[in-house]
Amino acid sequence: GERNLILAFESSCDETSIAVVEDGRTILSNIIATQIDSHKRFGGVVPEVASRHHIEQVTRCLKEALSKANVTYADLTAVAVTYGPGLVGALLIGVTAAKAVAFAHHLPLIPVNHMAGHIYAGRFVSDFEFPQMALLVSGGHTELVYIESENDFKILGETRDDAAGEAYDKIGRVLGVTYPAGKTIDQWAHQGEDTFDFPRAMEKDASYDFSFSGLKSSFINTVHNAEQRKVTLNKEDLAASFQQSVVDVLAEKTDRALDRFPVKQLVLAGGVAANLGLRERIERDMHQKHPATKLIMAPIKLCGDNAAMIGAAGYVAYQHQKRAQMDLNAEPGLSF
Ligand code: KG4
Ligand code: ZN
Repeated sequence: GERNLILAFESSCDETSIAVVEDGRTILSNIIATQIDSHKRFGGVVPEVASRHHIEQVTRCLKEALSKANVTYADLTAVAVTYGPGLVGALLIGVTAAKAVAFAHHLPLIPVNHMAGHIYAGRFVSDFEFPQMALLVSGGHTELVYIESENDFKILGETRDDAAGEAYDKIGRVLGVTYPAGKTIDQWAHQGEDTFDFPRAMEKDASYDFSFSGLKSSFINTVHNAEQRKVTLNKEDLAASFQQSVVDVLAEKTDRALDRFPVKQLVLAGGVAANLGLRERIERDMHQKHPATKLIMAPIKLCGDNAAMIGAAGYVAYQHQKRAQMDLNAEPGLSF
């Protein structure tokens, strides 16, 4: 039959990514142009710098995505694009490029929520069954999401301050790790031991909300106090202790949410879902406490921002007749 090819655009933060996805589950191409090096010296993403990079990269990424997938515009079924949440100037580049392609080639335009995109990275691993729960952990978000059916998302709990990835990046900075710090801290954590007793905020709180700013402050104080006393702390142990605290809270809240809202599947997704400590812990917990719930972990390579996940989510939205018109705008504060 007809090939169902979605051309997907992602530009919400610091990666310009364009992908071609077939039938929502086969990645024909997934070009990712990262700008991390340009943001490193600022210690985080500078919105103006991000927008400029997206403009410079988008045409090249588009050409590469099509040629690597070995398709032409005439082969495409639809164009999907992230329209929020994210940085407004960054989002606008992807939205504008997607609109231009859709308009010029008479293709339907499919609006995709970036966070839904992260969840759909899991669809490259397994079919989705509902109800479903997602633990979404990224640089900007930390959420437990209940998904009653396709496209029906309800946030059960979210962070009240820093996102998990943001906490990694901020404590990483104190240890001299450049942005983004998550992967390095994760590696150090595996070489150290949980010897510092950092707080586990809201672990016993009845809500499904999270808080990481207390942990971050406690970590920074510990390091600064040691510096003042001219004591050098073991960075691997610091990393292991920090990570244990983050993982404990994420796992505990997920466990309780699953007790209260039983689901067929749990999807672990977002940039921080690449964390090996978190993956191991959730895998073990699910096996021991929720054997009836299938765990779907987004592939490590697709945890960070990429357009393939937008293509997967866009495919489902397309089937549900979701369409945007030429007045589609970026929605930086978009929620589910
Ligand atoms: O989803 P993502 O690529 O961008 C956002 O939408 O935010 O997530 C990026 C975040 C960064 O904060 C980065 O430090 C974190 O994910 N991260 C990790 C790991 N790999 C990336 N955090 C912990 N452990 C990792 N292995
Ligand atoms: Zn993201």
